[in-house]
Amino acid sequence: MLKQLSTSAFFCAKRAYSNVTGKINARKYVLTKYFQGEPKQSDFKIVEEELPELKDGEILTEAEYLSVDPYMRAYMIGYKLPTDMIGGQVANNTAYFGVKEILYPKAGETIAITGAAGAVGSHVGQIGKILGCRVIGFAGTDEKCEYLQKELGFDHAFNYKTANIKTALREGAPNRIDCYFDNVGGEISSTIMGHMNKYGRVAVCGSISSYNDTTLPKVTILQPSIVFKELKVEGFLVNRWLDRWDEGIKANMNWLQEGKIKYEEKVYSGFDNMVEALVGILRGENTGKAVVKVK
Ligand SMILES: NC(=O)c1ccc[n+]([C@@H]2O[C@H](COP(=O)([O-])OP(=O)(O)OC[C@H]3O[C@@H](n4cnc5c(N)ncnc54)[C@H](OP(=O)(O)O)[C@@H]3O)[C@@H](O)[C@H]2O)c1
Repeated sequence: MLKQLSTSAFFCAKRAYSNVTGKINARKYVLTKYFQGEPKQSDFKIVEEELPELKDGEILTEAEYLSVDPYMRAYMIGYKLPTDMIGGQVANNTAYFGVKEILYPKAGETIAITGAAGAVGSHVGQIGKILGCRVIGFAGTDEKCEYLQKELGFDHAFNYKTANIKTALREGAPNRIDCYFDNVGGEISSTIMGHMNKYGRVAVCGSISSYNDTTLPKVTILQPSIVFKELKVEGFLVNRWLDRWDEGIKANMNWLQEGKIKYEEKVYSGFDNMVEALVGILRGENTGKAVVKVK
């Protein structure tokens, strides 16, 4: 749930909570209308509520930064309204487990990534380079592509809005694709899967290209590529590896400290601007991870 504590202190454990004389209030986003196209402020109301007393083993923390993620657009269709908006305060390790457990690339293989300049995609590419792979990415601006190549070490990056995807694949992946990390779905995914090697692996992480669509797009049929190239296509939700969360955090932390991975953040300001931030990532405003600084 997206909540901003309206107090300024950091509360920790039951003891600290019971030291406070007044009640603790939180602000939260409540979805009152199903999204039609882009999310709008008028789809929500911000509600203030008094938090219940902590139970044994619970802690209360004040959010300084909130995460904005594409799934917040995609998942709300199944809820009965009004409902508290979903969201998170701590980033997870989607890239680590998707690469390691689904793509399991070998050194020398080629990985293609869509949504390559985003939080997950930029991380996937860097892990690919650490593992000794050739990495090619697709992102939505020339600046993002330059960042991927010059800063993050991608072998090639292409602007999917202006490039011919088939030509880009021939240029960037002359030995074809062994692993595809799919963040966007749609026609580009069908084209990439048509350029894969036999026994290639596809990690289906998301399909952001259609999250705002009211009718689902039609794309080139995938089954012939999957059958004739004998591809392994697997969707995943990162929560599958909740019991191994620490492993991912430690591996990423080590790579960060060794200077092997870098990150960018797009910081939006203010709890009241959460919707603007969510729309922003769906429009591609962010490079790297998008977060909202609560105040
Ligand atoms: N399966 C899981 O457990 C899991 C967990 C986390 C995230 N995900 C999924 O992973 C994907 C990336 O998430 P993220 O958090 O890393 O977001 P992100 O990539 O940081 O932000 C979204 C990016 O998507 C791109 N985009 C927007 N519309 C697009 C379109 N029509 N076609 C292609 N790209 C488009 C934009 O970049 P451009 O400028 O390049 O267009 C934008 O910056 C999403 O599909 C998300 O749902 C899945």
